[in-house]
Order: sequence, then structure tokens, then C-alpha cells
Amino acid sequence: MAHKRAAFITFEGLDGCGKSTQVERLAACFVEQGFSVLVTREPGGTANGERIRQLLLDTRTARLAPLTELALMFAARVQHVEELIRPALDAGQMVICDRFTDSSEAYQGGGRRLGKMLVLELHRLLCGDLQPDLTILMDSDITASVGRARRRNQARTANQDSDENRFELENRAFFARVQAAYLEIAKREPQRVFLVDARGTADQTHTKILEVVSSKLGLNIFSKKAQNRC
Ligand code: TYD
Repeated sequence: MAHKRAAFITFEGLDGCGKSTQVERLAACFVEQGFSVLVTREPGGTANGERIRQLLLDTRTARLAPLTELALMFAARVQHVEELIRPALDAGQMVICDRFTDSSEAYQGGGRRLGKMLVLELHRLLCGDLQPDLTILMDSDITASVGRARRRNQARTANQDSDENRFELENRAFFARVQAAYLEIAKREPQRVFLVDARGTADQTHTKILEVVSSKLGLNIFSKKAQNRC
């Protein structure tokens, strides 16, 4: 069918803003509509990328220089793009990715104060012209989001031998810089980046996301009836 063409959709936002739930719900809607969908995440997504993720997120990773952090984010990303994202798009799959280069611009560029130019230049050199067709930026409150992320990761750490808390340990000023950098991206690229209020219930946020996806991608498929099923 004509509408079943590939699109690259990314989700962005602060830790604990509820991205993963929304990624899964949107993917379920696409599947319901007969799309072939790849759901993936960064840092990670590939076997090598997940190893880099462990190094990046583990609280035991001490003294990582901001530039090393940025380089590792891109190392994982290049592998991800080459191994998964481009082949999936070429094969006509819908790709939904939890975080992409905007995260590097917000966290390393803003949070770590490396600036946006370096991030954008690395993206150009390493990922070429690959850009998401649509980015959902989930707008949430810093205290509520980061508090939720910390509780979630502490619970996971208590249950398993994984500890992905390194970023959640940052202070409020760090997350304020991350948020400001995100808002700057949304302002700079209004054609691609859509700010969605994520302060309501998961259902409310999901409905808003479906509206954005439908209108932006020109997919008149998310009728009320279809929405009720996903
Ligand atoms: P994750 O547990 O996936 O957080 P969340 O579920 O909130 O997305 O951890 C990913 C962390 O990595 C998150 O704190 C943001 C950070 N990050 C960067 O700093 N730069 C990047 O380029 C990416 C992709 C993630």
C-alpha cells in the first residue's frame, strides 16, 4: 500500500519523561496498521552498541572526559546506523528510535557544555545526511522526570546486576542545561521537532503523539477507531 513507506521517527526528552512507554505504544499502533516496524534505542541497539552503553551508563565508569563520552555516543551511533537503521529504512521499515543525535546535542552539548557545533559536525561527518523525518520531544518537568528515572533505575539495580544510573546522578543545573538545549533544537528545526506536553497521563500523551505523527507524516490512518485499539 502506498502509505506503508519507511519513516524514521525519534523520541527525545529528559530521563524519566515516559519515552519508553510512548515508543512502545506508537510502535503497537503502526503494527496494528500493518507496518513493519523496528523499535530501537540509543546508546545501544546493536550488540557492540550495548557494550558501549554499559560503559557509558554504569555508575562505576569514573572520570570519563566529556569528549570521550561524546565520542562513545557517536561510536555506538555509527554502528547502529550502519548495522540497523539504514538497512531497515532501505528495506521499507518504519524505524522508531528512543534517542538519537539530539540527545548528544542536549546532554553532551548542553549538559556537559561541549556546545552544539561539535555535535552537529560529528553527526555530519559520521552519519552523513541521515536525519529523522520526525522527532517527538517530550516536554516534562525536571524534578518529576529525573526523580522518576532515579527510582526506576534504583529498583532495577536492586533486582539485577545492572546499574544505569550515571546520568541520573547529575544535578538539577545539568538537567536544566539539557532541557534548554532541547528547546533550542525545537526552535531551530520546527519542521522536524515537535514538542509534546508529557505532564498529563500516558493516554493523553499518546493521543497527542498520534495526532502529530498522523499530520506530520501525512498518514491518515490513526482514526478514532484505530486509536481505540492501540
Ligand atoms: P536510558 O536509561 O536509556 O534513559 P532514558 O530511558 O531516560 O532514555 O539512558 C540513556 C542515557 O544516556 C540518558 O541519561 C541520556 C544519555 N544520552 C546522552 O547523554 N547522549 C546521547 O547521545 C544519548 C543517546 C543518550
